[in-house]
Amino acid sequence: MLLLLSFLSLFCFAVFSQSQGQASLSRSNDPNGRCVYSFTVVSPQESSCPGGNAKSEMDEVLTRLTLLEALVSRLTAREERGTAFGGVRHSEENLHEAYAQVTRERNQLQQDQKRLNAQVQKLQGTVAELNREAERLRQRPCEQTHTSGGTRHENRPLRDPVFHFENTSYQEMKAKVKELPASRLLPEGIQRASSPKLSSNISSGCGELLSVGEPVLHRKADAITGKYGVWLQDPDPQGPYYTNKTVWRIDSIGREIRQLFVYEDMDQFSKGFPMKVLVLPEPVESTGATVYRGSLYYQRRRSRTLLRYNLTSESLASRLDLPHAGFHGQHPYSWGGYTDIDLAADEQGLWVIYSTGKAKGAIVISQLDPASLEVRRSWETKIRKNSVGNAFMVCGRLYTVASYTTPNTTINYMFDTATSEGQAVAVPFVNKYRYNSMVDYNHAQRKLYAWDNFHMVTYDVRLGWAGKGRS
Ligand SMILES: *[C@@H]1O[C@H](CO)[C@@H](O)[C@H](O)[C@H]1NC(C)=O
Ligand SMILES: *[C@@H]1O[C@H](CO)[C@@H](O)[C@H](O)[C@H]1NC(C)=O
Ligand SMILES: *[C@@H]1O[C@H](CO)[C@@H](O)[C@H](O)[C@H]1NC(C)=O
Ligand SMILES: *[C@@H]1O[C@H](CO)[C@@H](O)[C@H](O)[C@H]1NC(C)=O
Ligand SMILES: *[C@@H]1O[C@H](CO)[C@@H](O)[C@H](O)[C@H]1NC(C)=O
Repeated sequence: MLLLLSFLSLFCFAVFSQSQGQASLSRSNDPNGRCVYSFTVVSPQESSCPGGNAKSEMDEVLTRLTLLEALVSRLTAREERGTAFGGVRHSEENLHEAYAQVTRERNQLQQDQKRLNAQVQKLQGTVAELNREAERLRQRPCEQTHTSGGTRHENRPLRDPVFHFENTSYQEMKAKVKELPASRLLPEGIQRASSPKLSSNISSGCGELLSVGEPVLHRKADAITGKYGVWLQDPDPQGPYYTNKTVWRIDSIGREIRQLFVYEDMDQFSKGFPMKVLVLPEPVESTGATVYRGSLYYQRRRSRTLLRYNLTSESLASRLDLPHAGFHGQHPYSWGGYTDIDLAADEQGLWVIYSTGKAKGAIVISQLDPASLEVRRSWETKIRKNSVGNAFMVCGRLYTVASYTTPNTTINYMFDTATSEGQAVAVPFVNKYRYNSMVDYNHAQRKLYAWDNFHMVTYDVRLGWAGKGRS
């Protein structure tokens, strides 16, 4: 279109320049006295005004116009065709490009799918293998596995320096297993435990939590089942077989968690050589279990039932529902994982950290009778359980960890059961591996034990009296 216009203006200019010589401009007043400019162009054949020559002139102009139109339309057409052809070329190129892109993406996706399928198959294989192994071990006749002193080493699995993922889980699975009938509830457990109450601050070394050290790594789980779990040492061991060196471990991934791994000491634990695997009569829920005075205390799967398992007799010693406790996802810590009921032991005894419908999700602390599991006394705090990453007890005080993932987080709240008062605190705490699923205090070792994303770590803690002039 632009082209057409420019041709027309060129044409007009040509016509105009032809008659340029005969043009004149005049100025005169019209009858109303206004100035009028007149532009006059003399006709080429002035003498023969309306005549044949005028016609030929018109014809000539018409012819030229037709020619011009033809030219213009030809040019326009070429231009349009040009764009059209160019467009086709372009879209063809684009199509090729897009096709190649799609093909590349499809190939990539197919490869990814293949890789993922392989991974899934491998994992399924591993799980099936582990299940078969567990089943096989379960069906094996019970053996007397109690060992004393020197013979204990015979029960230890092979020491294999080439220690692989699958091999690790096998090593741990193949360790000695002793199954117990599910319903052996012994009244033997109802014995009076002497009160753990300590007479003075000096002998207990109690105080408020002043600081927590950097995490010290003791063991990294290789198997997928080791993403989270519980590991502990008994702060006050009883009985002939287990000492304050014994390490206890439960991998908390799986539908039916029943295996309790026993390690002779920290060294064997670090190497991944359990001396024994106990199969618990009832499955474990989540990571809230604790070991205290020769018993494993834990929450039965999908229930508010607390269980005490005597580690020496390897049998259930007590069983009691924790009144009104939320369970299986009602009041977990912020990371979820059915961490509704968290057992803890400290200088002052056995505790359970949970919530109830009445407390509307706020943390409730109950002190338990270690023998019967009866609630001795309860406290309701003002901090929501699902707003904190974890919690633990030190010297009768509850401490909450703000986050389970933030590497540099804080212990952000403290509740003292002695005064029934809570307050905000800010003690730095490091989640080095960014998924801390369990934090428990061991007062004998004066350490926090934690399970942070496959990593089993301890933290040193410092207790004392901050800014209160006490010591
Ligand atoms: C287990 O360890 C042995 C070496 O003792 C090694 O040959 C084997 O490949 C390992 N198995 C797996 C599944 O990694
Ligand atoms: C420990 O010391 C603090 C401060 O001196 C005191 O308030 C508390 O009652 C003491 N606890 C015991 C068990 O003596
Ligand atoms: C555990 O069982 C053993 C053997 O039956 C018994 O001697 C011990 O007192 C029990 N321990 C607890 C804490 O109940
Ligand atoms: C966490 O704190 C340590 C010092 O305690 C510091 O070196 C590190 O840079 C901090 N990391 C982040 C992510 O803030
Ligand atoms: C472990 O127990 C022994 C005595 O059986 C004791 O000497 C030692 O200090 C205890 N260790 C810890 C860390 O409690």
